[in-house]
Amino acid sequence: MVSFILNEREINTEAAAGSSLLDFIRRHERLVGTKSGCREGDCGACTVLEGRLKNGRIEYRSIVSCLSPLGNAHGKHIVTIEGINCRELSPAQKAIADNGGTQCGFCTPGFVMSLTAFSLQNQPPLPARAIEAMSGNICRCTGYKSIERAAETISEIIRDKNLDNPLGWLVSRGFLPSYFTSIPERLAAIDPPAQTDATGSTVIAGGTDILVQKPDETSESDTLLLFDDKELKEIRLTNDRIIIGASVTASGIMNSQLLKTKIPRLYEYFRLISSEPVRNMGTIGGNICNASPIADLVIFFMALDAHIDIKDPNKEGERSIPLKDLYRGYKELDLHEGEIVKQLHFRATKADLLFNFEKVSKRRMLDIASVNSAMSARLTKGILQDVRLTMGGVAPVPLFLDKCSSFLNGRRPGVETILECNQVLQEEISPISDIRGSKEYKRLLARQLLAAHFTVLFPEYTKSGNLIERLLQDEKH
Ligand SMILES: Cc1cc2nc3c(=O)[nH]c(=O)nc-3n(C[C@H](O)[C@H](O)[C@H](O)COP(=O)(O)OP(=O)(O)OC[C@H]3O[C@@H](n4cnc5c(N)ncnc54)[C@H](O)[C@@H]3O)c2cc1C
Ligand code: FES
Ligand code: FES
Repeated sequence: MVSFILNEREINTEAAAGSSLLDFIRRHERLVGTKSGCREGDCGACTVLEGRLKNGRIEYRSIVSCLSPLGNAHGKHIVTIEGINCRELSPAQKAIADNGGTQCGFCTPGFVMSLTAFSLQNQPPLPARAIEAMSGNICRCTGYKSIERAAETISEIIRDKNLDNPLGWLVSRGFLPSYFTSIPERLAAIDPPAQTDATGSTVIAGGTDILVQKPDETSESDTLLLFDDKELKEIRLTNDRIIIGASVTASGIMNSQLLKTKIPRLYEYFRLISSEPVRNMGTIGGNICNASPIADLVIFFMALDAHIDIKDPNKEGERSIPLKDLYRGYKELDLHEGEIVKQLHFRATKADLLFNFEKVSKRRMLDIASVNSAMSARLTKGILQDVRLTMGGVAPVPLFLDKCSSFLNGRRPGVETILECNQVLQEEISPISDIRGSKEYKRLLARQLLAAHFTVLFPEYTKSGNLIERLLQDEKH
């Protein structure tokens, strides 16, 4: 049984936990304001709000309902465009209308829900943040300038928000209908999220990969829902290791204060990963186990020497392996039947550990990489140590560049080193041509990202030596 509040109404349903929330909303509940567009998380037409109780307060975030398994709604408040209707247009609806931000209207409910999610969140009321909140929404007829102006209007209005009572303030300003204020109490009365049914054969976390790839399978088979498993939801520091539970989302990582103190540019790096609603759903466990050769989180954490703990929920004991050893071949994992990834952990970075992440994709936002790469290293008296270089999109698996890392250890980080390392790199990778680029292009990107790590991490060593000229010369040979 999945129990949740949909707009103002409590729902108790026996519908399949692995079926999509969008289908439940539109087909079962006939709430057709939420649109069905791409059904792949790309267009944002199906965006809804998901509210959950955390430490007695309710937190709302945007999600794409097409990829959200219905079972993940258990114990939550799901809000569709119909659920924010007041007597008059809400400020988000009005800002879109007043700024000419809608034409055919197909995308509009999605944009309004993303702007409403922004108004509900406790983040700086900056226009740039309001625009970022809409990073998962696509409009095909209006053009974005008018929608951006609407975002600016909303960020201006919510500057005065009362942070002690945000819900009350938003209700009083007509962003939300008054029933929202009773939702925390009503949610608290619903039994806790369904306990993990450890017998389910299809494992689902956020659903952002599996509901794209196997939507029929997830709605027809027994599911093992991991998203709200409390044991898998924590980020903590224990014995000098940072532990990230498998069901922590990309947003959870991006906004973690603990992780920000260890990886100062974390927010900047994670902005390049998917879009806000997909980051709100997609987990680190899902990224690891989907085993895409360009999985951003894998490339990122593998360079920090992450290990993963693996367990079978029906058996005693756990085992731990380096993340880099999980991948045996294309989508082939060192996971036995019934095993799940419990958590990832890595040594809390010391101040002298340098780290950089790079990603090239066809679009800056909401796109998977053509090639991505991360590098961590120490520099002691001008000499590289503990180098760990990873790269995605250049092999059948997310690649730990063993040979390049060994090559770099003990060298000075100058232009010559980059060029020599590139020769090792080109031997170590084996990209193929696909829709994200030809193999020649990916080889070029691999070299560029290697050089980018050095220019970011060791600018004083790469300033001299005419790096760009030398790279251009290198291309001619
Ligand atoms: C529009 C869009 C944009 C995207 N952009 C990016 C991007 O920029 N970069 C990127 O790296 N990815 C991207 N993705 C892919 C996806 O969002 C991520 O891989 C995400 O981290 C997957 O997590 P999930 O929880 O949704 O996985 P799910 O779909 O729930 O699961 C994925 C797979 O992992 C298995 N699984 C999940 N958790 C566990 C566990 N703990 N133990 C064992 N098996 C498990 C499932 O059985 C399934 O086979 C994008 C996806 C979409 C739809
Ligand atoms: S229908 Fe396009 S993101 Fe859901
Ligand atoms: S108004 Fe038509 S797609 Fe945006």
